[in-house]
Amino acid sequence: MADSCTAKSTDRYLDLVNAPVGKTVAARLGLPRPARLRRYHVGEPLLPGPLLLGPQPLGPQPDGPQRGTNAVDGPAPLAGTLAAIGAEVDTADREGQTWGALVFDATAARSPRDLAELREFLAGPLRRLAPSGRVLVIGRAPDGEDPQADAARQGLDGIVRSLAKELRRGATANLIQLAPDVAAVGESHPAAAALRFFLSGRSAYVDGQALRVDAATVGEVSDAGEPADWSRPLDGRLAVVTGAARGIGAAIARVLARDGARPVLVDLPAAGDALARVANSTAGIALQLDIAAPDAAARLAAHLRQRHGGVDIVVHNAGITRDRLLANMKPGDWDAVLAVNLESQLRLNAALLDDGLLRAGGRVVCLASTTGIAGNRGQTNYAASKAGVIGMVRSLAPRFAAAGATINAVAPGFIDTDMTRSMPLVTREVARRLGSLQQAGQPVDVAETVAFFCQPAAGGVNGQVLRVCGQSMVGA
Ligand code: NAI
Repeated sequence: MADSCTAKSTDRYLDLVNAPVGKTVAARLGLPRPARLRRYHVGEPLLPGPLLLGPQPLGPQPDGPQRGTNAVDGPAPLAGTLAAIGAEVDTADREGQTWGALVFDATAARSPRDLAELREFLAGPLRRLAPSGRVLVIGRAPDGEDPQADAARQGLDGIVRSLAKELRRGATANLIQLAPDVAAVGESHPAAAALRFFLSGRSAYVDGQALRVDAATVGEVSDAGEPADWSRPLDGRLAVVTGAARGIGAAIARVLARDGARPVLVDLPAAGDALARVANSTAGIALQLDIAAPDAAARLAAHLRQRHGGVDIVVHNAGITRDRLLANMKPGDWDAVLAVNLESQLRLNAALLDDGLLRAGGRVVCLASTTGIAGNRGQTNYAASKAGVIGMVRSLAPRFAAAGATINAVAPGFIDTDMTRSMPLVTREVARRLGSLQQAGQPVDVAETVAFFCQPAAGGVNGQVLRVCGQSMVGA
């Protein structure tokens, strides 16, 4: 099933500049040269080469915990965690060595001066980062206690976002921010799933992003533990995916099924044939339902209770656009977008919490959009709905944590689907090249991020919004 998750490229320009003649011409003319991204396939190595782990620790720490130690439970075995998730870890750079990843633990950074150590570590080996290699920095989330320390912590964010724009050949840079009360990285630690996600091909189109890992649900994580088999982390889980007949929803269904979940696929009756095909290919259950109908949440809840006794994962993916400038917006188009994209999610989430339908360790993932973060001309209704999703996720996160569950949002940028294929050709071609990775994302890229949020071992990730946009802010 692995390969059915990764669709063929529909980007002719990308194909052209990766062919021998096109490559030379593009280089001569200084044209963008998007790389073929390394995407996840079951059984393939975690990285395209060994991982260079930065010197631990970083910066002098007269008052803080001992350098290079875990304040809670002894020396921080970051190297051990990285090895346990499948990386070949090295701590010494060598001339001529190509690296699959460069990882730096900056959790001890206490002052802007400490940031120079990250620059120093990266400067040499960066030129020898493999295609689709990874730069991953682990820092602390600012906590409002010490302006020097918070300046340094936020400084890491600036470095990572800028470095991501400098990297080429499909390489990415991202930041994991550990919440103040999370112990430095160690084995079975909440950050292990995030480390694995960012290093693997699952995060191919996630670039220049910061992800916070909290301690709020640590108890739940250690109960659930890491999966016995990293290639099937969702074994035995029942997963509802709305809007699953095509596009990103169909990709989510395939990836969740590949990872071991049984999908319940929801879409409009009009999409029934396509829905049945996705259900057949994922051993899933097709459910024809208009999620915007006032009784949709109650009907879905009744189905889940009666047929399955509850649910483990809900992915709110169904969404529509009705683009028009605000001055020309028809009330019906405004209402329809808010009803499908936001109000349906609010109703179902309330039912999940109120009826205790979501089983312990439950995961809810909501599709937002970079349009809900950056705004987009002609999309006030869509942006209202997607920004609203982000507001809803942040508001509900503590309640989900209290129920031993998580809720997060994925904000895709420009993804190649029927939704974006309807854009004018020139706008679409320009939009594709605007991000750091110089190409649109594929539905599978969004699906892999959704699947990461759904993992039992990702219980420390709650109330987060992760952009899957190749560091572009052009939304659908
Ligand atoms: P799509 O238009 O290809 O597929 C959406 C699916 O949702 C369709 O199968 C449709 O029948 C279903 N659907 C629509 N209204 C429904 C309703 N009332 N009840 C049940 N099902 C319904 O869209 P695409 O591109 O796959 O997008 C999926 C999600 O990702 C949406 O929430 C979208 O807003 C979001 N997104 C997409 C981006 C892109 O570039 N394609 C960018 C940012 C966000």
